[in-house]
Amino acid sequence: MMRARCLLARIALIFLALSEVEGQLSSTLYDTTCPNLSSTVQAAVNSAVATEARMGASLVRLHFHDCFVNGCDGSILLDDSTNITGEKTAGPNNNSVRGYDVIDTIKSQVEGICSGVVSCADIVALAARDSVVALGGPSWTVLFGRRDSLTANQTGANSDLPPPTSSLSNLISRFSAKGLSTQDMIALSGAHTIGQARCTSFRTHIYNETNINSTYATSVQANCPFSGGDDNLSPLDVQTPTTFDIDYYTNLINQQGLLHSDQELFNNGSADSQVTTYANDQTTFFSDFAAAMVNMGNISPLTGTSGEIRTNCRVPN
Ligand code: HEM
Ligand SMILES: *[C@@H]1O[C@H](CO)[C@@H](O)[C@H](O)[C@H]1NC(C)=O
Ligand SMILES: *[C@@H]1O[C@H](CO)[C@@H](O)[C@H](O)[C@H]1NC(C)=O
Ligand SMILES: *[C@@H]1O[C@H](CO)[C@@H](O)[C@H](O)[C@H]1NC(C)=O
Ligand SMILES: *[C@@H]1O[C@H](CO)[C@@H](O)[C@H](O)[C@H]1NC(C)=O
Ligand SMILES: *[C@@H]1O[C@H](CO)[C@@H](O)[C@H](O)[C@H]1NC(C)=O
Ligand SMILES: *[C@@H]1O[C@H](CO)[C@@H](O)[C@H](O)[C@H]1NC(C)=O
Ligand SMILES: *[C@@H]1O[C@H](CO)[C@@H](O)[C@H](O)[C@H]1NC(C)=O
Repeated sequence: MMRARCLLARIALIFLALSEVEGQLSSTLYDTTCPNLSSTVQAAVNSAVATEARMGASLVRLHFHDCFVNGCDGSILLDDSTNITGEKTAGPNNNSVRGYDVIDTIKSQVEGICSGVVSCADIVALAARDSVVALGGPSWTVLFGRRDSLTANQTGANSDLPPPTSSLSNLISRFSAKGLSTQDMIALSGAHTIGQARCTSFRTHIYNETNINSTYATSVQANCPFSGGDDNLSPLDVQTPTTFDIDYYTNLINQQGLLHSDQELFNNGSADSQVTTYANDQTTFFSDFAAAMVNMGNISPLTGTSGEIRTNCRVPN
C-alpha cells in the first residue's frame, strides 16, 4: 500500500515535471477556438512563397530572431514608438530581417476568422514551420500558447543574437544561454540552406580568410566588392537557395560556407562529425531540425496572464 502510494506520487511528480518542460504550450490550444488557423496560415505562407521564394527563408529567420530575444513573444514585431525602442532597428535586424508585412497580412486574416484569440508569436511559429514545408523541408507539430509581449528589448537583440563573426565556442555558448544544445545549434544552422545574406555579413570571410574554397570566394566577390555594395545579396546555399535540403552541410565540407560562422561548424573542430552526418543523411537532419525548431519555439514563452493577444502585431493593445 505504502509502496503503491509512493509510486503514484512519483508518477504525479513526473507528469508535473514534464508539463514544466513543455512550458505550458499545447498543440491543441486552438482546436476549438480557431479550427481553421492552420489552413489559413498555410495558404497565406504558400501564397507569399509563390510570390517570392526567399520569403520562406525570411519567415524562418523571423521566428529565430523573435525567440532569442526575451523568448518567443512577438517582441520583434513591435514598431518603434514613444514608449518602445523596437528590436527592428537592432544591429542584427536593421535592413536585414524581413517578413513583417506578411505577418500583418496573416494576422488580419486570422483576426477575421477568430478575433482576439491567436497571438502574433504563435502565428510567427506557425509561419516558420509552413515556410520550411513550402520549400521542401520537414514538418513538425507546432505547440501554441505563446502570448505577446507588451514591450521590446533592443539591447537584448544586440547582445543575444549571434553575429556572423562568431567562433564555434561563441555559437555554442549563445545557444546554450537559451537552453539549446550544441546539437540543436548545428541542426538549426541548417536553416542556412535557404535565403540570402548581405555582403557586409561575409566580406571578411571571402577576402581575408583561408578556410574557403578559392573558386567559390572569387565567384562571391564578383557581387561583393572589397569596399561598397554592403547590401548586395548572395545565397547562403550556393547550390539550391530556395530548397530546404542538406546542401548547407555539403557546402561546409567543400569549404563553401558563406558566413565565417557557417564555416566554423566544419573547421577541424568538434562540430565536424555532426556536419558530416547531416551531409550524408537527410532523414536524420530533417528529424533533428524539426526537434530543434520545437525546442527553439519553447524558449521562455509568456503564458497564463503574462502578456496579451495583440490585435495588431506592431503595437501593444
Ligand atoms: C548559428 C548562428 C547564426 C548566425 C551567426 C546567423 C547569422 C545570419 C546572418 C548574418 C544572416 C544574413 C543576414 C543579412 O546579411 O542580412 C542570416 C540569414 C538567415 N538566417 Fe541565420 N544565423 C544563425 C542561425 C540561424 C538560425 C538558428 C536560423 C533559423 C532556424 C537562421 C535562419 C536564417 C535564414 C533563413 C536566413 C536568410 C534570411 C533571408 O533570406 O531573409 N539562422 N543568418
Ligand atoms: C473553416 O473553413 C472551411 C472551409 O475552408 C469552412 O467551410 C468552415 O466554415 C470554416 N470554419 C470556421 C469555424 O471558420
Ligand atoms: C505610452 O505609455 C503611456 C503610459 O502608459 C500611455 O498613456 C500612452 O498611450 C503610450 N503611448 C503609446 C504611443 O503607446
Ligand atoms: C537602421 O538603418 C537605417 C537605414 O540604413 C539607418 O538610417 C539607421 O541609422 C539604422 N538604425 C540604427 C539604430 O542603427
Ligand atoms: C533584455 O535582454 C537582456 C539580455 O538577454 C536581459 O538581460 C534583460 O533583462 C532584458 N531586458 C528586459 C527589459 O527584458
Ligand atoms: C582584411 O585584412 C586587412 C589586413 O588586416 C585589413 O586591412 C582589411 O580591412 C581586411 N578586409 C576585410 C574586408 O576584412
Ligand atoms: C573548389 O571548388 C571547385 C568548384 O567547386 C573545385 O573544382 C575545386 O577543386 C575546389 N578547390 C579546392 C582547393 O578544393
Ligand atoms: C584541417 O586539418 C587538415 C590536416 O591537418 C588540414 O590539411 C586542413 O587544412 C585543415 N582544415 C581546416 C579548415 O583548418
